[in-house]
Amino acid sequence: MKIGFIGSGAMGEALVKGLIDSGRYSPEDICCSDILKTRCGFLSTTYGVSAHRDNIKVVESSDIIILAVKPDKVREVVLEVKGIIDKTKLLVSIAAGVSTNAIETWLDKDVPVIRVVPNTPCVIGKGISAIAPGKYSTELHQEKAQDIFACVGDTVRVSESLMDAVTGVSGSGPAYIYLVIEAMIDAAVTVGLPRTAAADLVLKTVIGSAEMVLQTGQHPAVLKAQVVSPGGTTAAGLNELESGKLRALFTGAVKAAVQRAGELGE
Ligand SMILES: NC(=O)c1ccc[n+]([C@@H]2O[C@H](COP(=O)([O-])OP(=O)(O)OC[C@H]3O[C@@H](n4cnc5c(N)ncnc54)[C@H](OP(=O)(O)O)[C@@H]3O)[C@@H](O)[C@H]2O)c1
Repeated sequence: MKIGFIGSGAMGEALVKGLIDSGRYSPEDICCSDILKTRCGFLSTTYGVSAHRDNIKVVESSDIIILAVKPDKVREVVLEVKGIIDKTKLLVSIAAGVSTNAIETWLDKDVPVIRVVPNTPCVIGKGISAIAPGKYSTELHQEKAQDIFACVGDTVRVSESLMDAVTGVSGSGPAYIYLVIEAMIDAAVTVGLPRTAAADLVLKTVIGSAEMVLQTGQHPAVLKAQVVSPGGTTAAGLNELESGKLRALFTGAVKAAVQRAGELGE
């Protein structure tokens, strides 16, 4: 399988790196394009892939084309390549908010399209990508897409109607967690811990807690209850978080991001 990238910025590069690092794809299997010549030079020097400014060339030389430009550029790119793309290829879009239906309408032919919402931890192979099929894509197409994104983390399949929700949860999610981490480190410094120790304590607590949920399969509320002793320190801390309406804030943040994802696709 030859994989092509149109738009080779942050996410495009993360995928190129992941595909090569996985050992399942070699640089000869990958072809990239980007509007910036310097970006193309960087990609070919760093990863040994072929990279140039010609989007048409990418489509011609690839079996699977990953569309990794910003959402507002997707229509322009699809219209540019529609003349040379056909149903023997698979088009995978990672653009936030842009539906497979919109892409299929712009293509105006039965090309299989798949929409994927990855997240930035893909850069270190710890991403989570949600995959949804368009109306011309088969089970085999979904497996091919899953195979690619499995090189940079885990994958889940969802129906497309849930993709804006996924964007608001796991697409934007790393930023929410970074904010929580930053706030906890600052709080640790406020109570007297040196910043390096504070960062270590907070980060290992976040990783350890996530691993506990994953490995035990227990509901977070059950694990939380195990930390809380009656009248103890954790109960006092949790009471502050609940008084500050932490749950409502998270619900509001996710809803706002989901709404914005919908607007981007309009
Ligand atoms: N980053 C995330 O967390 C994340 C998560 C999920 C999905 N996504 C989606 O992934 C896509 C890419 O995001 P990103 O963060 O990688 O963006 P990015 O870093 O801006 O990368 C997009 C690249 O495409 C280039 N480009 C623009 N127009 C082009 C054209 N006509 N032909 C070829 N290349 C073109 C851009 O060049 P210029 O910079 O010169 O315009 C840029 O280098 C977006 O649609 C985003 O919604 C991102």
